[in-house]
Amino acid sequence: MSKTVGSEAKTILPGATVGILGGGQLGRMMANAGSAMGYRFVALDPTPDAPCGQVARQIVAAYDDREAAKELARRADVITYEFENVDAGVAAMLMEQSYVPQGSELLYTTQHRLREKRAIEAAGVRVAPYAEVRSADELREAVGRFGLPCVLKTATGGYDGKGQWVIRSESEIGEAFETLNRAGTELVVEQFIRFSKELSVIAARSTTGEIRTFPAAENIHVDNILHLSIVPARIDEALQREAERLAARIAEGLGAVGLIAVELFLTEGGELFVNELAPRPHNSGHYTMEACRTSQFEQHVRAICGLPLGDTALLTPVVMVNVLGEHVEPVLARIAKPDEAAERLGAAPKLHLYGKHEAKHKRKMGHVNVLADSVEQALEWISETNIWRV
Ligand SMILES: Nc1ncnc2c1ncn2[C@@H]1O[C@H](COP(=O)(O)OP(=O)(O)O)[C@@H](O)[C@H]1O
Ligand SMILES: [Mg+2]
Repeated sequence: MSKTVGSEAKTILPGATVGILGGGQLGRMMANAGSAMGYRFVALDPTPDAPCGQVARQIVAAYDDREAAKELARRADVITYEFENVDAGVAAMLMEQSYVPQGSELLYTTQHRLREKRAIEAAGVRVAPYAEVRSADELREAVGRFGLPCVLKTATGGYDGKGQWVIRSESEIGEAFETLNRAGTELVVEQFIRFSKELSVIAARSTTGEIRTFPAAENIHVDNILHLSIVPARIDEALQREAERLAARIAEGLGAVGLIAVELFLTEGGELFVNELAPRPHNSGHYTMEACRTSQFEQHVRAICGLPLGDTALLTPVVMVNVLGEHVEPVLARIAKPDEAAERLGAAPKLHLYGKHEAKHKRKMGHVNVLADSVEQALEWISETNIWRV
């Protein structure tokens, strides 16, 4: 387990090749940002013509294909990943054969909700009260302590609200336990936080130990999928700074290298609790692409390559809205026409599509960063399009 900080750190200059485990949209946007600086990219992904494969070279193979991973190691000067469920064996092999400045420790920690919560607490930051539960009786006991509602979650494999059960009455306890227990992983139950807002902060820590954080985003989910990120978050500045401070403390405490996204709950009383982490670029950081002096993707490349980190200052208010499968057609129809609403509101909607072949319902196909003089004007543009009726 290496945390490549300080003396072990290498400076990887533009012209070198970055290998990415995973070829989805995060890899694509990383490759676009890094290519602009002169880096080359090669992605390993099983889907031919994957989003990243359209803008970089691609090795088409399964993620746990050792031979393909070896080829990635041969072709790349530095290796990173764009998702957290990297196979532990592949990670170990790559670390032996190649330069993986992020190491595997942070992946190991964030792949498992219980390990992650313990590590956050060890860094001195609060998470929602939680307990590991091994039986329906233990769950009943924890629910007794936390009160209802509670959220039961699988420790591994969950995303976009999958692998979760919000328990609202005692009568659901048995069924909730039985259902999630079938996933065959540990279970964790959390107190339900009656948050006034969900926030996130993305921190970057480079191989040299330098840390910078991006402005906090206010996130709105619909059906457990991120819908909007609003920046600046509509909270007072002291809280914005506090959220950034917590993220920096987590990046330092967990020995992160590269990006780490910190999802937070803000309560009515002004308390912040960490919900979960992601050791990679994050959907709620896409707003940085046009709205910050440095995007999260450029920052990630800088961090793993040992370059000084970029300035994260916000250039303009922005609202990021996700384009899911069902939004693609109306969005395309919209951008093909003169945009009267944008002119009137002084908004500049920036479209990003990921090049996915099938626009399935609820699938993340792209996003729009709506730049404006205020987040209210950006929200007004989104509402006037009538595309994202919720
Ligand atoms: N303890 C909790 N209290 C209140 N809401 C929660 C809690 N845990 C999760 N949620 C809600 O469910 C969403 C998804 O949960 P999260 O743990 O972030 O899983 P995922 O991996 O699916 O993103 C959160 O963004 C939040 O809206
Ligand atoms: Mg989440």
